[in-house]
Amino acid sequence: STHSVHPATTHPAIAGFGAEANPVRPTYLMCAPQLYDVSYVINPWMAGNVHASSRTRAMEQWARLYEALSSIADVVLIDPEPGSPDMVFTANAGLERNGIVALSSFFHPERQGEEPHFRRWLTSAGYTVVDIPRSTPFEGEGDALFANDASCLWAGYGPRTAVSSHRILRSIWNLEVISLHLVDPRFYHLDTCFAPLEGGYAMYYPKAFDQASLEKIERFYAKDKRIIVSEQNAVRFACNAINVGRTVIMNEISAELESCLRSRGFDVVQVQLSEFLKAGGAAKCLVMRLSKLARTLHN
Ligand code: ARG
Repeated sequence: STHSVHPATTHPAIAGFGAEANPVRPTYLMCAPQLYDVSYVINPWMAGNVHASSRTRAMEQWARLYEALSSIADVVLIDPEPGSPDMVFTANAGLERNGIVALSSFFHPERQGEEPHFRRWLTSAGYTVVDIPRSTPFEGEGDALFANDASCLWAGYGPRTAVSSHRILRSIWNLEVISLHLVDPRFYHLDTCFAPLEGGYAMYYPKAFDQASLEKIERFYAKDKRIIVSEQNAVRFACNAINVGRTVIMNEISAELESCLRSRGFDVVQVQLSEFLKAGGAAKCLVMRLSKLARTLHN
């Protein structure tokens, strides 16, 4: 495949990308959409879309995402469970680092039933699961993203995750947590409007944040490292992108954003994910990043 073959010369903008010098295949957890449906409304995207998604099309789109990701990463699967139609969005299961998972404590009762399923899978795969109390909702990788150099954790709060959960994350991994306030209901998870990328870039939709949060982003990322996403691309979930080395896998975006990413050295892989947009998610929501453990992960 084209994704695994890297040109002999490295684009100057991304010289030093980890994946070039020392290829490491990351691991991601996915959940196939056999039981996926929009069966309730817990974000603005789901309104008007209840039972309006096609499972056949969802299966096809998900399979293309699975294929694209499998060419650059190891993908492990959790079985879908009846009564958990949003379980396909494994990014919300929790946040994992160094074998420890902060298990999500979902804000909406509609998704709380997923918690035992993810706990069981993660525990049996060998991860140490830490519970986040119900009093401090936390929605996993949906609201918590490591900087590409792991120097800090960007954590969103507002619609779903409570800011009070952020100090728990800080104490679990003993690292700096930078809290970002989400103020546009359409961008209810941090991973819908913010994406730290390799090479020290960040792609984001500024209007999803309050002024103080924007200033935190601008203090961290120099101007030439900021990839500002237009509203038109933001509502296509452009920021909801999976980045492995130089590759960025995302829903379909404008030619302008594509060339902007390419000019910075990224390979852009677009996968149509319209059926998942109806539930308020795209590429990045459908995967959860995991460290490879010493013991073999089941699949
Ligand atoms: N319907 C799901 C919800 O509202 C979508 C989750 C999208 N996940 C994400 N990481 N942004 O919870």
